[in-house]
Amino acid sequence: MELTNLIFEKAPIALVTVNRPKALNALNVRVVEELAQVLRDVRHDPAVRAMIITGAGDRAFVAGADIAAMTEMSTVEGLEFCRLGHRVMQSMEELPIPIIAAVNGFALGGGLELAMACDMIVASDKARFGQPEINLALIPGFGGTQRLPRRIGHPRARQLILTGDMIDARTALEWGLINQVVAPDQLLPAARQLAEKIASKSPITVREAKAALIAAATMTEDAGLKLEQQAFGVCFASADRVEGTRAFVEKRDPKWQGK
Ligand code: HXC
Repeated sequence: MELTNLIFEKAPIALVTVNRPKALNALNVRVVEELAQVLRDVRHDPAVRAMIITGAGDRAFVAGADIAAMTEMSTVEGLEFCRLGHRVMQSMEELPIPIIAAVNGFALGGGLELAMACDMIVASDKARFGQPEINLALIPGFGGTQRLPRRIGHPRARQLILTGDMIDARTALEWGLINQVVAPDQLLPAARQLAEKIASKSPITVREAKAALIAAATMTEDAGLKLEQQAFGVCFASADRVEGTRAFVEKRDPKWQGK
């Protein structure tokens, strides 16, 4: 499929830009399908070590699902759109490399859900966050009712989802929704710096750490603790673990093989 709504710059730190600035980068079926395609591509290319997602223009990351497109959808089509979004957000979480959301403006509805499916969120001080679906007689449909309370706690998640109110970047930082707030011209450099730092670690270890961290949000503590032991075993069995521990003892920088 030709990418017509996304700009995909494939590199060791890949950059994906949702490119519908006139509609504040709203997500329609096509955008979400293109995102699925990019994720498939990245998943099978070990040269890509991290991914950054941002929005085109200076107003929005993603202002939600495309409301105009939803007015034309039947119930079945609406539900299929919801399921498609869920699959894509889940494959983002399951991607073995880190994804950083670089939020340059509005991250609303499906846009906030997209950001929450990333590992970390860096935001410009102009960013605004919210789940305003309730104003459309909808609820979040790309995972927000589950991911938001796990990130910021139930009282604040209820406040955002039941009122539809937006919060600014400072509040989002204070609430633990995002990792960092920077000036707009520092957004991509800051996201890149974070991505590069993680990409400099052993890829096996990053993959296993990410899987265990996702388990913390999706499994019971008991199951998550078992998963941690398995993931630790995978790391311990790797050549990179031998290299990492030896390099420390020999007081030199490690050289990862990704094995
Ligand atoms: C389609 C959108 C859009 C959206 C903005 N636009 N958000 N189009 N879907 N989600 C379009 C506007 O129609 C307008 O097009 C242009 O982008 C600029 O937006 P304005 O409203 O003129 O800008 P402004 O007055 O600055 O207001 C910005 C805004 C507002 C606060 C972000 O646009 C807004 O409230 N947008 C909707 C946010 C929202 O409800 N998101 C949740 C969607 S539901 P024209 O052609 O007039 O210039 C959802 C469900 C996910 O995400 C799950 C689905 C299964």
